[in-house]
Amino acid sequence: MSHTLPRKVIFDTDPGVDDAMALYYALAHPGVDVVGITTTFGNVTVQQAATNALYLTAIAGFEVPVTQGVAKPWVKASEAPPDFIHGDDGLGNLLTRQDHSHTLDPRASAQFIVDMARAHPGEITLVAVGPLGNLAMALMLAPELPTLVREVILMGGTVLEPGNVSPVAEANTWNDPHAADRVFSAGWKLTMVGLDVTHQVILPVSLFARIAKHHQHVATDTLLHAVKFYADFYSDLYPHVAEIHGCFGHDVLAFIYLTNPELFTLESGRMRVAVDGLAQGQTILRRRHINYPQAGWDAHVPLTHACMEVDAKSARQVLEDMLMGDWLKPV
Ligand code: BDR
Ligand code: CA
Repeated sequence: MSHTLPRKVIFDTDPGVDDAMALYYALAHPGVDVVGITTTFGNVTVQQAATNALYLTAIAGFEVPVTQGVAKPWVKASEAPPDFIHGDDGLGNLLTRQDHSHTLDPRASAQFIVDMARAHPGEITLVAVGPLGNLAMALMLAPELPTLVREVILMGGTVLEPGNVSPVAEANTWNDPHAADRVFSAGWKLTMVGLDVTHQVILPVSLFARIAKHHQHVATDTLLHAVKFYADFYSDLYPHVAEIHGCFGHDVLAFIYLTNPELFTLESGRMRVAVDGLAQGQTILRRRHINYPQAGWDAHVPLTHACMEVDAKSARQVLEDMLMGDWLKPV
């Protein structure tokens, strides 16, 4: 990726441990310019998500606009946040937090996305790693949004890999399937970084311990604390992850796709999201090019590019190299 023209990114997120990894990777990468962070419910309440986004940027020494967005799914009933995965506070139950003076941008996340896309037509990339309500709402506020945004990269969904909240559904699409279907059908350049690739990349706690030891900084100590909690959850669930006391880095893979697309193999097709019933939240990719007689698959459904394979070893290395760099600012 060119380092001379950093990509303007709005990061739509529900931090969240892997969201925190993704944020720090993006802030550390010279090819990425995080011009705003829009928050949503998901791993935590939206209020906690916004609190965490402000906190993570403040302790790393970055001043980035942070907005608060949707608090619940578009149509379905809300569910309790998964405190057993990310902790009550979303960051593995931090023992203390440093004081800081960063405050929220007063705009709703959807309005912020629309304002930025109109101010920088053709330049903004949306990297979305939570339930997709903010993007769906932005599309309602500005139906022309797909013509203003450069591209959308999202962590969510799965094509062939089993789901992580039901046999077929990934958490982000499960949490707001109506919003997800709207986003997949909007007609923008859209790449899905789903469980097919995120389950191929196991990140050991030892990687984050090396980074924390190298920097001796509150931001990387915070990340290490959060990752330990998160890795305990994944290690209890999957024996092959427990072998290295690791976790999946889901959300950071969306940014690694942005900066290093050569590490991924993609497949393109029309994608829809099941909004109810047993398959709720399932991302369904039409992989055969025959004329199915059922409604919903006709030519107006735009193409989605789905990541199917990743070079896991190189992805881990890119992450470590970037977080080991000289990116933290004095606070
Ligand atoms: C996704 O769900 C959330 O728990 C993670 O932050 C990630 O965005 C993985 O299914
Ligand atoms: Ca997330």
